[in-house]
Amino acid sequence: MIAADDAVSDRAPRPAAEAPRRVVATAPGKVNLALAVGAPEPDGYHPLATVFLALDLVEEVEATASDALRLAFDPASPIEVAGLACDDSNLAIRAARALAEHAGIAPRASLRITKRVPIAGGMGGGSADAAATLLACDALWGLGTPREELHAIARALGADVPFALEGGAALGTGRGDLLEPVPARGPLHLVLVLDGEGMSTPATYRELDRLRDAGELPQPGPAEVPAALLAALAAGDAEALGAHLANDLEAPAIRLRPRLAATLAAGRALGAAGALVSGSGPTVALLAASDAAAAEIAASLAAEGRSVLRASGPAGASAAPDDALPAAAPHPTASPDSTEEPR
Ligand code: C5P
Repeated sequence: MIAADDAVSDRAPRPAAEAPRRVVATAPGKVNLALAVGAPEPDGYHPLATVFLALDLVEEVEATASDALRLAFDPASPIEVAGLACDDSNLAIRAARALAEHAGIAPRASLRITKRVPIAGGMGGGSADAAATLLACDALWGLGTPREELHAIARALGADVPFALEGGAALGTGRGDLLEPVPARGPLHLVLVLDGEGMSTPATYRELDRLRDAGELPQPGPAEVPAALLAALAAGDAEALGAHLANDLEAPAIRLRPRLAATLAAGRALGAAGALVSGSGPTVALLAASDAAAAEIAASLAAEGRSVLRASGPAGASAAPDDALPAAAPHPTASPDSTEEPR
């Protein structure tokens, strides 16, 4: 979700007295409705053609003025946050440092993240933390960094970070970081089936290469997404979209985590319009034909003892979460705030 919008770009850093003391920004988790993976480049990265859909499952980053860079996770987060790294290995910390370095300032902020996107689940939660941190710190530090510069910083942090800055629905090429918005009619209703144990993205890509090298999967052609999928997305036709969902990382994810096959089958048996492994896994995304169908599928899976979340998309491309802050907060959002005179 874009909390700091283009209206604040191209500004010089604000004098300290004008800078907000506290900013909240959000960025969405995602599913890849299509993910076509080419052969690895010499640097190990794979060329992709992917269709991202941002979900109304958002990560929230609160940035508060501080004398140093600190990170904590909100223990009341819907997702279990115990044991998550808060040091320099955390992508949010790296995002704050990268933005400060770009601006030539010291990275001084206290960050607090409320996690709603499953961890290591193939839904871009860590990327969303990084994107929301860029937006929050940009506003906290009064930088007004132009959008294309924020994108360049995002791209260097990870292939999924640029999409988390934008939200909505987009075709991603390159490493998935070159984005072109695509029309999407929503809401599309999803049921996300969590696996309980995260998976490593590099490991899933490596397994794909291994299966292709061993001839167990076909050799990759040029990475392309089906035109029929884009048409179904534009029309908001869940049944047609469900029929065209495709993910080259699904087979390697299932090989590494065989029980995912049963999860997909359970979703299909309950009448989901489509089912696929999300990104590099292990979360399984089920597309439902309606809100009521999603509620039924989610209830049936929960009754089987599975851990499920409901989400819809496209989301995340607008509106700051003003209601997430107490009304008394002086500079409450990363959007141009009402307490500040335009300059
Ligand atoms: O860019 P990001 O840090 O999200 O990527 C994590 C890992 O996923 C990379 O180190 C690489 O192993 C794999 N990856 C890839 N090709 C891509 C994106 C990610 O091989 N296009």
